[in-house]
Amino acid sequence: MDTQILSGKEVSNAVYEALKNRIEALKSQSIIPGLAAVLVGEDPASQVYVRSKTKKFASLGLHSETITYSTDITQDEILAKIRELNNNVLYHGILVQLPLPGHIESETVLNAVDPKKDVDGFHPYNLGCLTAGKPTFIPCTPKGIMRILEHYKIDLSTKHVVVVGRSNIVGRPISILTNLKQKFSNATTTVCHSGTKNINQFTHQADVVILALGSPEFLNGNDIKDRAVIIDVGINRIDDDSERGYKLVGDGEVASLLGKASALTPVPGGVGPMTIAMLVENTVEAAERSLH
Ligand code: GUN
Repeated sequence: MDTQILSGKEVSNAVYEALKNRIEALKSQSIIPGLAAVLVGEDPASQVYVRSKTKKFASLGLHSETITYSTDITQDEILAKIRELNNNVLYHGILVQLPLPGHIESETVLNAVDPKKDVDGFHPYNLGCLTAGKPTFIPCTPKGIMRILEHYKIDLSTKHVVVVGRSNIVGRPISILTNLKQKFSNATTTVCHSGTKNINQFTHQADVVILALGSPEFLNGNDIKDRAVIIDVGINRIDDDSERGYKLVGDGEVASLLGKASALTPVPGGVGPMTIAMLVENTVEAAERSLH
């Protein structure tokens, strides 16, 4: 059986195409959607992610700035910067790249972002709205996953979705989104995590498995039922002897999933590009809302 490859790259291009008119309409009113990204420390993956985000903003003619701090910055200095960004009309979105160094309380920093500029959807106000079924800003990766499913007409209604991982960034919000009472959603969702015994006993029952645990090639073909859909959020670096010294793999073991799953998102080129597309969409939305 053929396994359909769900291309986030393709879906993200459709998102950018659809955003063009909205961006033009804002520009005609002298508004250029703007993003401020706060990057603390030298985590190489975070540096790559932030650079990809700001590069995409530039390529779309949008405004973005990265505020970079070394690891020894104090929490108060970051909080002061966020207050300043909250009041700067050039920025419609503020993003604090995670993880933050250990001496900084992520929760305190994320709570300081104006919920109206919280394009990552990490502020408790926005998370609360999502939980109550009235989403405002939806976190980018979960929003991107729902958009891929919608694009490929994979309707979750009445399906059993098993989410592996319960992070605030992906696992928890996607577990809420998948069972909201709305189009393409309405699933029955099970969340597995590090405290779950025999995770494969759950994945075996799933119509859709969403992998968001960050464990290279964790799930293989024997862990799923025939024709399950696999959404792989993992981006794991594995050392190899290539020039750059590593390769990227997901949380799924692709060789054994191909032919058994009905569809899967590749790594790279699956969920990753959607995270950036949804960040752009949320920032455009924030700019539009700033007009009202
Ligand atoms: N770290 C990993 N994923 C994300 C994300 O989507 N947003 C931010 N700000 N940090 C992250």
